[in-house]
Amino acid sequence: MKFIGWIQPIVLLAVMLGILGCVTAGDRQHSTLYQPVNSSRVTADYQAESTSGMVVSAHPLASAAGAAMLNAGGNAIDAAVAASFVISVVRPQSTGIGGGGFLMYHDETAKTQRIFDFRERAPIKSSAKMFMDESGEYKKIDYFGTQIKDPSVNGHLSVAIPGTVKGLVEIHQELGKLGLRVVMGPAIEAAEKGFPVYPGLAEAILERQEWLRLYPASRRLFFKGERPLAEGDSLLQADLATTLRQISESGAKDFYEGELAKKIVSEIKRGGGVIDMSDMRAYRVIERSPVTGHYRGQKIVSMPPPSSGGTHIIEMLNMLETVDVGQMHPRGASYLHLLSEVMRRAFSDRAKEMGDSDFVTVPVARLTSKAYARSLMKSFNPEKVTASKDLAGTLPTGESPSTSHLSVIDQWGNAVSTTQTVNYSFGSCVVADGTGIVLNDEMDDFTTKPGGSNVFGLVQGPKNDIAPRKTPLSSMSPTMVFSDKGALEMVVGSPGGPRIISAVLETIVNVVDFKMPLLEAVHATRIHHQWMPDTLKVEAASLDSDTLKSLEAKGHIISAIKSIGDVQAIQKRSDGMIFGVSDSRSDGRPSASGKSH
Ligand code: DON
Repeated sequence: MKFIGWIQPIVLLAVMLGILGCVTAGDRQHSTLYQPVNSSRVTADYQAESTSGMVVSAHPLASAAGAAMLNAGGNAIDAAVAASFVISVVRPQSTGIGGGGFLMYHDETAKTQRIFDFRERAPIKSSAKMFMDESGEYKKIDYFGTQIKDPSVNGHLSVAIPGTVKGLVEIHQELGKLGLRVVMGPAIEAAEKGFPVYPGLAEAILERQEWLRLYPASRRLFFKGERPLAEGDSLLQADLATTLRQISESGAKDFYEGELAKKIVSEIKRGGGVIDMSDMRAYRVIERSPVTGHYRGQKIVSMPPPSSGGTHIIEMLNMLETVDVGQMHPRGASYLHLLSEVMRRAFSDRAKEMGDSDFVTVPVARLTSKAYARSLMKSFNPEKVTASKDLAGTLPTGESPSTSHLSVIDQWGNAVSTTQTVNYSFGSCVVADGTGIVLNDEMDDFTTKPGGSNVFGLVQGPKNDIAPRKTPLSSMSPTMVFSDKGALEMVVGSPGGPRIISAVLETIVNVVDFKMPLLEAVHATRIHHQWMPDTLKVEAASLDSDTLKSLEAKGHIISAIKSIGDVQAIQKRSDGMIFGVSDSRSDGRPSASGKSH
């Protein structure tokens, strides 16, 4: 599949010209420690400070809604749930109540972390080969005379059972302080009154216009007459406001068992999908135990399967711990080579070993052990790449503006790290008629074709085959970092498909090893390697030509891309100062809570 989207792969030559190449590899002066990707855009607006609470998300309205809950005496859960519902409204390209997600909650009093998995699950009528035709190729599905290509990414069959509503409502019911109506108020208002279409949303609509135009309820929402909504228009979502109001008044039941469920199922059936009422009724949020690891004295707590993220972040940190990373230059070829070789090894394991641990055996303990990391590093050569084919398994790529992460800390020290998604941009592009709900295309996160690759170029194995009620493998990695004494130090996460894992890893290493302030750690150049395809992705125009030449000399095939990830992070210092940073690669802003209660 070939979803290049808004990433314009930039000819390497352009990078070689060294548009921003102002340092030589090996130079360790502070001002050259990092190279912001959007240097002209990294302003003070992307950082906020507080001694009480903080909400950092991918849209200012969502962060402000979360901070308003904190100011009203609400806790981290109230803020996270308020911000999540607003994000669902203002970033329909990224996430929404037709999607799913993961949430980690840190309870400061109990000193425990809880994981809630409200990711989409496969319908009962799904099967391993459901997207294939007799010749082993992707099926083409007829939608009222239009042939739907890539049916695991576009249209009704790509939809998995949505989990966000049950997830947020149940988590809030158990752990929130404020009423659901209060917490959902800002989302209802944003849907009802509308908000201005911002550049990222306008681009996303343009990119997916073929599909948004095809489905009637989607067309009504994202088009003005014949033209896609553009910057300066207002996005009004009256049906979604009604849906949200209904949820705020009576909880999740109607979405899974009542009229809303019927509307979703009838939309799915109309377009040849397979989710039925029994699927909706059977949906359950699953509480899981986090994966944990230790890196240079810090405790890392992250997402277990069915996410691959936490396991591989810890696996990669364990590999990096075998080397004195702090002595290297964060933009030098030696470090970037090490980092990409570590990524290559972990992503090879992702393809072989990862799937929903409720269905297949996933060797998390082995993959996250220090001994295993040492064994993987035996084949590491500082001068030469290890060919991906020598590591294992099989295969290509694109980045989309979808998925959204948000981080919260409240005045009591409780915290939330949550990543939510509809998968690819605007999910399936289907809006369930009469509901305003954009339905996900999370089925594409399964292995839909043996040896094939998904929309993010990920090659996946049989452990991630489709099965009824199974959860597709994810890369979403909401993570927290604690001191050796257990004090919360960092809340972090990102969108970006497989690049999530790299973006979170690199942010942690930038803070722990390179001692960068959070604003720098989030804006430093990122790279990404996912084993297959065997290319090293680097953010365009952010590495100097000497470094790129050195990497090529070691055997890397470099591909320059616009950006990797969209990190939303919070750091808490031992003196109580809290810093929130949004990534200028996208549209987010932090919002500090103003009052102490
Ligand atoms: O769960 C996953 O790994 C994917 N569905 C996430 C998709 C994503 O981050 C798209 N972002 N650009």
